[in-house]
Amino acid sequence: MKAIRIHEHGGPDVLRYEDLPTPKPGPGQALVRIEASGVNFIDVYHRTGLYKVPLPYTLGMEAAGTVESVADDVTVVGPGDRVVYTGPPGTYAEYAAVPADRLVRVPDGMDVRIAAAVFLQGLTAHYLALSTYPLKRGDTCLVHAAAGGLGLLLCQIAKQRGARVIGTVSSEAKSRLAREAGADDVIVYTEQDFEVETRRLTGGAGLQVVYDSVGKTTFDKGLNLLARRGMMVLCGQSSGPVPPFDLQVLNQKGSLFVTRPTLGHYVATRDELLARANDLLGWVAVGSLRVRIDREYPLSAAAQAHRDLEGRRTTGKLLLHP
Ligand SMILES: NC(=O)c1ccc[n+]([C@@H]2O[C@H](COP(=O)([O-])OP(=O)(O)OC[C@H]3O[C@@H](n4cnc5c(N)ncnc54)[C@H](OP(=O)(O)O)[C@@H]3O)[C@@H](O)[C@H]2O)c1
Repeated sequence: MKAIRIHEHGGPDVLRYEDLPTPKPGPGQALVRIEASGVNFIDVYHRTGLYKVPLPYTLGMEAAGTVESVADDVTVVGPGDRVVYTGPPGTYAEYAAVPADRLVRVPDGMDVRIAAAVFLQGLTAHYLALSTYPLKRGDTCLVHAAAGGLGLLLCQIAKQRGARVIGTVSSEAKSRLAREAGADDVIVYTEQDFEVETRRLTGGAGLQVVYDSVGKTTFDKGLNLLARRGMMVLCGQSSGPVPPFDLQVLNQKGSLFVTRPTLGHYVATRDELLARANDLLGWVAVGSLRVRIDREYPLSAAAQAHRDLEGRRTTGKLLLHP
């Protein structure tokens, strides 16, 4: 089968389009023929070595496709089932052998491309808005990179929860998309100081929560914007990691909370995975959550997808097709 592997860390050029043996499902596993693999910023961290992975490494954490075969002990899915999953690495490939208890059935009538496009970032938006800081009517939240894959989904879910949503983006075109996703106000943070602008928009009232997936360039100012006992949810680092931090600052700025959550810990059991997935795929099925597929590439063009994502040229989801 074809797959995209790295043998060393580095820029997009280290991605190699290679022939590998098609895996066989071991105990508890299903063999999935991948039809669409999501591209996520975490794939960039794996490629650059910001997050350590064993080399050589097949990239990719999200896919949808069809079950080809299962091990004798697998009962939760069977051959022919259309499934989606996130977590087990190696989705930039034609096939993957995946722990069957990580697979979720794609609802009848839903395109597998849509399921692949929404799963990782949608489950993330779900846990951020419903569990990490459960948004409620009357709250105001700040969503950085609001027109990104995660951002567009988080804006919609935050709005559904009744919160006021302020988004940040790097261009006017992205600003339009964030508004369409429900952001009440959008700040072009490459042109305006988002701290000053957020204060103006809120009349100086503090925010209950900042969802910060950008990290290095936004973290400090975000802390300044929180209300007393507000929560900084550092959920990514698209601009680079946040440097070491003096916890005393949390006291000085208003008994603040900081958390650094990751999806795996919010879908650790099959019950929790299915509960979130049922909500998410249900919202997509009835049209209350819109999924924007921005760009689709053949698997062999994965390096271009990485250049586009890192170059801040994308809005919404990028998919690879084996
Ligand atoms: N913790 C979790 O469980 C979890 C799960 C999913 C994703 N994430 C994180 O959430 C973030 C977004 O992921 P995504 O896959 O949805 O990507 P994305 O938001 O579609 O793309 C990244 C966006 O970050 C913004 N950005 C700001 N500064 C940047 C810089 N220096 N270089 C590149 N981009 C920059 C850009 O938006 P503008 O041009 O508008 O600034 C860019 O479009 C990532 O940090 C990812 O690791 C975390």
